[in-house]
Amino acid sequence: MVQSTDLSQGRSGGAAADPASGAATFTGNRGLQIEEPLIFELGQSGRTGVDLPEPKVKDRLSGLRRAGEIGLPGLSEPQVVQHYTRLSQKNYGIDMGVYPLGSCTMKHNPRLNEKLARLLGLGDLHPFQPMSTVQGALELIDQLAHWLKTLTGMPAVAMSPAAGAHGETCGMMTISAALEAKGERARRKIVLEPESAHGTNPATAASLGLSVRPIPANGSGRVDLAALKAALGPDVAAIMLTNPNTCGLFESEMIEIAQAVHDAGAYFYCDGANFNAFMGRVRPGDLGIDCMHINLHKTFSTPHGGGGPGAGPVVLSQALAPYAPYPWIVNEGGKWRIVEEGARIEAAPIGRLRAFHGQMGMFVRALGYMMSHGIDGLKQASEDAVLSANYVLASLKDLITPSFGGPCMHEALFDDHFLRDTGITTLDFAKAMIDEGFHPMTMYFPLVVHGALLIEPTESQAKEDLDRFIAALRSLAERARSGRHVADFKAAPRFAPRHRLDEVHAARKPVLRWRPSNTFKQAAE
Ligand SMILES: Cc1ncc(COP(=O)(O)O)c(C=O)c1O
Repeated sequence: MVQSTDLSQGRSGGAAADPASGAATFTGNRGLQIEEPLIFELGQSGRTGVDLPEPKVKDRLSGLRRAGEIGLPGLSEPQVVQHYTRLSQKNYGIDMGVYPLGSCTMKHNPRLNEKLARLLGLGDLHPFQPMSTVQGALELIDQLAHWLKTLTGMPAVAMSPAAGAHGETCGMMTISAALEAKGERARRKIVLEPESAHGTNPATAASLGLSVRPIPANGSGRVDLAALKAALGPDVAAIMLTNPNTCGLFESEMIEIAQAVHDAGAYFYCDGANFNAFMGRVRPGDLGIDCMHINLHKTFSTPHGGGGPGAGPVVLSQALAPYAPYPWIVNEGGKWRIVEEGARIEAAPIGRLRAFHGQMGMFVRALGYMMSHGIDGLKQASEDAVLSANYVLASLKDLITPSFGGPCMHEALFDDHFLRDTGITTLDFAKAMIDEGFHPMTMYFPLVVHGALLIEPTESQAKEDLDRFIAALRSLAERARSGRHVADFKAAPRFAPRHRLDEVHAARKPVLRWRPSNTFKQAAE
């Protein structure tokens, strides 16, 4: 929480301004944009929304009994409902419009899947239930595993990783275990990381005690194959390559890369978080990879966050399947069972990565997405995602400079050349999008592109909505280049409930706790 003195500086209207001037309102509200205090500032001591009976036993706590107020806000039920409803209206979400955050795949979360996840018997499961009472749930996880293996052309899948980065940890641990089994772990400590890999890839390698060796990109934004071959050697454990890469481009030399990596005795980790760009069209298993994580919250439409951990299953090649972590599901004589431990450590040398079996709610939603689309629908979803991104690219490229020539995959990447000599930065441009009613695109990522603007429209948006988005961006680009609106860009967002906050101050001196105003002032000084 940013302290309220900062917030009042950032207010659009502000009760402090004089309403007689016409520039402000008496309330500080602007139409339906309601100024909202903290719940503590709204609350009053002694007010409550519930009527609890007097406790029968009075002095159960004896000396431990609380002596004074604990300072919780007191509000009636309507006040609580109104407060949170007003706060929710300040949020921009995928249910409001185009959400072009590149690399994040903010696609529609189908309501059917939400309904399925809440079905009695799925929503209320407990991981300690006897196996006989969860047969359907186990079959569902197995079905999802089957779809993932079929779509990727890989023979095994570890279902339990809790997110993409956790899947990377899982995959790299299986690679380490396979090297250990060959007696090569001590000597193979290097992981090759192309420049266009997602940031979590080198972070994962480093967190497992491996050393990262960067591989440069060629002129077309893809892995430089010659440089990769030169970097391979007996000390290399693996390559971690993101495909499509963070520039939104398909790595077209996958088969050659796989061949070279395997010839050097190393493993091929593919970051498949962007599988939404080619599911149904290409099976990663056919490209020679050894393992790949899949972000269910990107490709298979499960909510980001979603009220709990996500899911980042990892598909494994035949060579790595024996090193998969616990648990896995088997069917014996028509009965489903979770295998969680074995008599021999070799059965699963990396053990297990987390408590229980994975995020059931996400499994249900992802399988709902797959089954309601069918294999032809999934193929169409990835084709539509690529079509949308190329439509955006083609519609903007005369005004906003694309970083690379040719078509893109699921996201369109631009750099800030078009803003040169305007005094306007990528940040100013993105903030001005908020005034036009859009969530900004991803800014300054990937790092290999100067002032990057990365747009991922996904397959969810109707053409008319994309057209409105494109028209707004074109208008902003024209205004930026005209040189007449610099002040507006610098002040953006001008129409949001808050302007630009002092992010450095908020990061360096965060005020994470509300205090009554007198002590609050002291803390802020
Ligand atoms: C290409 C890529 N790799 C890895 C990740 C990490 O996934 P997560 O945020 O689920 O850990 C992401 C996240 O969006 C990603 O886009």
